[in-house]
Amino acid sequence: MASGQLSRAEALACSGCRHACHVMLYCDTSTQLFGRIPIRHIILMQMRFDGLLGFPGGLVNPSEETLEAGLSRELSEEVGVALPINVEDHVESCYAPATSSSSSASSSRRLITHFYVKKMEEEQIREVERAAASTATDHGQEVLGMVRVPLYAMKGGGGLASFLSHSFIGNARSQLVDSLSRLGLVSPAELQRALDKSLETHANAAEHLRAEAQRKRF
Ligand code: APR
Ligand code: MG
Repeated sequence: MASGQLSRAEALACSGCRHACHVMLYCDTSTQLFGRIPIRHIILMQMRFDGLLGFPGGLVNPSEETLEAGLSRELSEEVGVALPINVEDHVESCYAPATSSSSSASSSRRLITHFYVKKMEEEQIREVERAAASTATDHGQEVLGMVRVPLYAMKGGGGLASFLSHSFIGNARSQLVDSLSRLGLVSPAELQRALDKSLETHANAAEHLRAEAQRKRF
C-alpha cells in the first residue's frame, strides 16, 4: 500500500463511517493523436450525474461485502463489466474532504474513500469503454460517459493542464495526480507544469465568468 491517511485495517475499524471505493483503470498504448502526439496511456474516468469528473466506483457496505467485491459490483453497474478487483490493487484509504459531494450532504456519517489502481491490456480497456456505453445499467443516468485523461501537453495549455482545470468529485483530482506521479505516467517536470498551468487556466476562467455575469446582470 502506498502512503495514505489511514491503513486499510484502521479504515475498516470505523464502523460508523460510510465507505466508497473507486478505481483507476488504465493501460499503455502506442497510438498517437493526429498521428504525431503519443497518447502513451489510456486512463479511464467518467462524467458523473452531478457534472463532476470522477473514477468509476461507489458506496460499499463492508458489513455485507468486502471492499473489493463491492467495488466490483459498482463497476458492473457503472461500466457494464464486473471486473475482479484484488486487495493488491488497493492504493490508499483516507477521509473524504469535508467540502465534498452531494452524497455526503445526505448523511452526517464520515465518508472514507478507498482508492484502487488496475493495469489492463489496451483491448480490455476498449472493451470496458464499449460496455460502459452499451450494457452498463447506469449509462446515461449516474454515468454520463467515460472519458480518457489526456496526458500530453499542447501549446497554450491544452491536454493535461486543461483537463486538470475541470471540476472533480471529492478527492478524485488528487487521486489522479498522485497516481500519475507514483506510476511515472507523466514526468515530475511535466506534471508540475500542467498543475501550474491548470491553476492559471482556472483563475482566468473564473475571471472571465465574473466579467460575463456582470455584463448579463439586469
Ligand atoms: N470518484 C468518485 N467519487 C469519489 C471519489 C472518486 N475518485 N473520491 C471520493 N468520492 C466520493 C464522493 O464524495 C462521492 O459522492 O465518494 C462518494 C460516493 O461515490 P459515488 O461514486 O458517488 O457513489 P455511488 O454509489 O456510485 O452513487 C450512489 O451517491 O452521490 C450519491 O445520491 C448519489 O445515488 C447516488 C449515490
Ligand atoms: Mg459512482
